[in-house]
Amino acid sequence: MMEEAAKLIAHSRFLIAFTGAGISAESGIPTFRDKNGLWEKYRVEEVATPEAFRRNPRLVWEFYRMRMKLMKKAKPNRGHLALAELERMGLLKAVITQNIDNLHREAGNKNVVELHGNIYRVKCTSCAYRENLLESEKLEEFLEEEGLPKCPKCGSLLRPDVVWFGEPLPQEALQKAFKLAERADVCLVIGTSGQVFPAAYVPYIVKENGGYVIEINPKESGITPIADIFLKGFAGETMEHLLAKVKRCLKDKGC
Ligand code: APR
Ligand code: ZN
Repeated sequence: MMEEAAKLIAHSRFLIAFTGAGISAESGIPTFRDKNGLWEKYRVEEVATPEAFRRNPRLVWEFYRMRMKLMKKAKPNRGHLALAELERMGLLKAVITQNIDNLHREAGNKNVVELHGNIYRVKCTSCAYRENLLESEKLEEFLEEEGLPKCPKCGSLLRPDVVWFGEPLPQEALQKAFKLAERADVCLVIGTSGQVFPAAYVPYIVKENGGYVIEINPKESGITPIADIFLKGFAGETMEHLLAKVKRCLKDKGC
C-alpha cells in the first residue's frame, strides 16, 4: 500500500493534503474525539459556541488561552515537515487544514487554507478590527493578561478568530478549498475523524472529480470508506516513510 501511495504521489499532477487534529497529536496537542481528547474534558456548549461566549466570555477565554499556551510550545512534527518538503519539491499544491494551531505554516508550508481559523488571531465582536498576535508580537503580553481582552478601536469584547460550532466557515477559505479539491488528482487525508462538515466534504469532492484519496490514521474514520489507500499508522512516522518512498520513486524512473 505504501508503494502504491508513493507511486500515486510521485506521478501526481495536482496533489493536495487535507488535515485534522491527528497530524498535530505527535506535537503534544490533544485531538478532540479520541480518548483523553478535548471534548472528553470540556463541554462544547460551554467553550466553543457563540452562545457560550455570550453567556460566559471569561470561561471561553480561559479555554482558548490554555490552548494558545499549549500550541505556542508545540513544534511541527515529522508529519508537518514531510508536507512542507513535498511542497518544496513542487508536488504538494496546497494544505487544507481544520487545525487552528498554525503548525503547517511553522513547518514551512506556504499555501495553507485554514477552514476553522487560527488561534493566534483575534477579532472584535462589534467592529472590523482584527489582529494576528504573532505578527503584532503581542502574544506574550496577551497570554499574561487575566481580564477580558478589549478592542483597541471600539472597546468591545475581542473573541478568538476561530470557527465555533453553529457558525459558518470563512467563505473565501471554503470556496478556495472546494476549488482545490475539484482540481486535485490525489488527496492525502491525514488525522481527521471526517465527522465535521462542511470541511469533511473535501475528500468527497476529490473523489467526485475522479481523484484518489490516500488516508493516514491509526484507526478507521468517516473518510475510510471512500479512501483508495488506507495507511494505518501515526502521521509522523507514516509520512516520513512515505516521503522517503516518493523520493526513491522519483529517482528510479521505472517506478
Ligand atoms: N496520526 C494520525 N492520526 C491520528 C493520530 C496520529 N498521531 N492520533 C489520532 N489520530 C486520528 C484519530 O484516529 C481521529 O480519527 O485523528 C483523528 C482526530 O479526530 P478529531 O479529534 O475528531 O479531530 P478533527 O477530525 O480534526 O475534528 C474536526 O472538529 O472539534 C472540531 O473544529 C474542531 O477542527 C475540529 C473539527
Ligand atoms: Zn472593535
